[in-house]
Amino acid sequence: MRLIALLLVGLLKFTLATNRDPFIWLSSLHNRGYASLQADNTGGECPEECDCPPTFPMAMYCDNRNMNKMPYIPSRMKYVYLQHNQITTVPNNAFGNATNIVWLMLHENLISSVGKQAFAKLANLNRLYLNNNNLTEVPSNLPRSLQDLRLNHNKINKLQPNAFEGMANLTVLLLHHNGLQDIGVGLKSLKSLTLLDVSRNQLKKVPDSLPEMLHQLYLDSNSIEAVPANYFSQFTNLQYVRFSHNELTNKGIPQNAFNNSGLVELDLSFNKLESIPVVSTSLQHLYLQANHIKEFTLGSFCSVVDVMNFSKLRVLRLEGNEISAGDMPSEAALCLRLASDIAV
Ligand SMILES: *[C@@H]1O[C@H](CO)[C@@H](O)[C@H](O)[C@H]1NC(C)=O
Ligand SMILES: *[C@@H]1O[C@H](CO)[C@@H](O)[C@H](O)[C@H]1NC(C)=O
Ligand SMILES: *[C@@H]1O[C@H](CO)[C@@H](O)[C@H](O)[C@H]1NC(C)=O
Ligand SMILES: *[C@@H]1O[C@H](CO)[C@@H](O)[C@H](O)[C@H]1NC(C)=O
Ligand SMILES: *[C@@H]1O[C@H](CO)[C@@H](O)[C@H](O)[C@H]1NC(C)=O
Repeated sequence: MRLIALLLVGLLKFTLATNRDPFIWLSSLHNRGYASLQADNTGGECPEECDCPPTFPMAMYCDNRNMNKMPYIPSRMKYVYLQHNQITTVPNNAFGNATNIVWLMLHENLISSVGKQAFAKLANLNRLYLNNNNLTEVPSNLPRSLQDLRLNHNKINKLQPNAFEGMANLTVLLLHHNGLQDIGVGLKSLKSLTLLDVSRNQLKKVPDSLPEMLHQLYLDSNSIEAVPANYFSQFTNLQYVRFSHNELTNKGIPQNAFNNSGLVELDLSFNKLESIPVVSTSLQHLYLQANHIKEFTLGSFCSVVDVMNFSKLRVLRLEGNEISAGDMPSEAALCLRLASDIAV
């Protein structure tokens, strides 16, 4: 039945394209017909240890198979799932002719070695998940087409200057849980970057230059002591800043460092602050628990002269500091009138 249907479709195509050489057409029909029939039954050629569902012939599922090396990847593949195995090496020829891969899931393996050209030909690659491996550096020659690059939970301790060069479409870059002491490279050219997670590294200072589009910046659990003046005013889209578990002191924070009208959420918990930094009236969530704050300064939230210009703060966490609820001035009710969750 299928063969007949196929022939009919083929004939229709042929009659619509009458200027084609019939001999070439017949042989191409034969080849394509055979390949299509196979695809109908099995999804096309597929490495034995993987599943290639016939209903989704461009996807190859090889996750959780106890594999310790890269399988052969048929050239038609676009979505390749190899996570949760024991792969240690991605050699230069790992992808052979499978240059159309769009998603490549390699997380939760033991990868420590990647050929310098391994990913170079994957010109359509959007998502590359290499998190939870044993990498000590960012693989070389990553495709510029990447949009989502996950390298968290590795042992990366240095970024090569050109590690992310030309990735104008990169929107997500996850580097948390690595051994970085310095970002070193300018990330400013990552024009589309909206989320940067560099938490749980060993950073001593904030990254130097970051793209303006940035929306979320996660710096938790590093050793950062200071924020340069006007650091946050360079980002017009920044809404979420997480700085918990660092070494921030008030000395390291210029007067208006966090008084940035775009911020929605600011996490400064588990630092060494002795007073509440000035924040914008538009901030909605402020986490300050487990610092050494000694005083409740209402002027950090609202201008005292203009109490009608109240704070938009909804959540304020202050527990684990050196103040108690009794230290809140009575005007706080006016200034923080939207706050539904204040914990002291
Ligand atoms: C890739 O394609 C070329 C040309 O079609 C072919 O000669 C070669 O054997 C293919 N390589 C692999 C690994 O399939
Ligand atoms: C991870 O890499 C280190 C070298 O960087 C090596 O000593 C270690 O055995 C690797 N671990 C695994 C589980 O492969
Ligand atoms: C970024 O995306 C646009 C639109 O999809 C595309 O035209 C362009 O080639 C991409 N840039 C890179 C470096 O891949
Ligand atoms: C916060 O910034 C605004 C303008 O961006 C400014 O008017 C205000 O005085 C600043 N707050 C404090 C307490 O400095
Ligand atoms: C409220 O005060 C801030 C500075 O504290 C200022 O930027 C803003 O324009 C004021 N808003 C109104 C409605 O007065």
